[in-house]
Amino acid sequence: MIGIIGGTGLAGLLKNGEEKIVETKYGASKVLIDENKDVVLLGRHGLSHSTPPHKINYLANIYTLKKLGVERILSLNAVGSLKVEIEPSSFLIADDFIEFTKVRKSTYYDGEDGKVAHVNMLEPFCSDLRGILKEILDKRQYSYNEGTYICTEGPRFETIAEINMYKNWGHVVGMTAYPEVSLAKELEMCYCSLCNISNYCSGIKDSDLTVDEVLDTVKSMESKILNVVDDFINY
Ligand code: HPA
Repeated sequence: MIGIIGGTGLAGLLKNGEEKIVETKYGASKVLIDENKDVVLLGRHGLSHSTPPHKINYLANIYTLKKLGVERILSLNAVGSLKVEIEPSSFLIADDFIEFTKVRKSTYYDGEDGKVAHVNMLEPFCSDLRGILKEILDKRQYSYNEGTYICTEGPRFETIAEINMYKNWGHVVGMTAYPEVSLAKELEMCYCSLCNISNYCSGIKDSDLTVDEVLDTVKSMESKILNVVDDFINY
């Protein structure tokens, strides 16, 4: 079973399949299940995009996928670019992360059941799945880079001073791939992130950096994103 986690501006992805609310001990998540294709689609912000990044129930979402038998997850993440040469409307395959989140629950091992665990992050984004994404993007001749995903708490965008710091450390900034990536690892699922570059980060290059700019770019990339998702499901 493949799990697809859709993000900002990708409600269009979530149209086929049977809608189901899955209850877990961490809360409930709404999914669409396409039994014919063995695919589960989950809109991380809720199906109507009403949950901001810091309030998403990441534990319930990832646990739901596990409960449904998902072994491989393709996550779609809108991000800002920290590098002039990584242009909006291109893609990035995340191969590592640094996180600056503050208030999110980010582990299944919080010690309540007497268990302490430290999952290793040597390869947070599954190399097999990254390889599949590269093959798909190469074949379709979609332009992409690979690099480090910096996860901020949001929901505000970053200051120019923050971006000046982050740009020495990573390639893109987003608000949602963490803690999905480490929760998936805790539950022994393979996780990869296809980032769609929706804007330059604050101060990197002329940009108004508004939510509209982000949504417009994601909208303009939608057919490419759907093609990659289709190829991934049919791989
Ligand atoms: N910063 C953080 N998250 C984002 C951005 C950004 O510039 N663009 C899309 N998600």
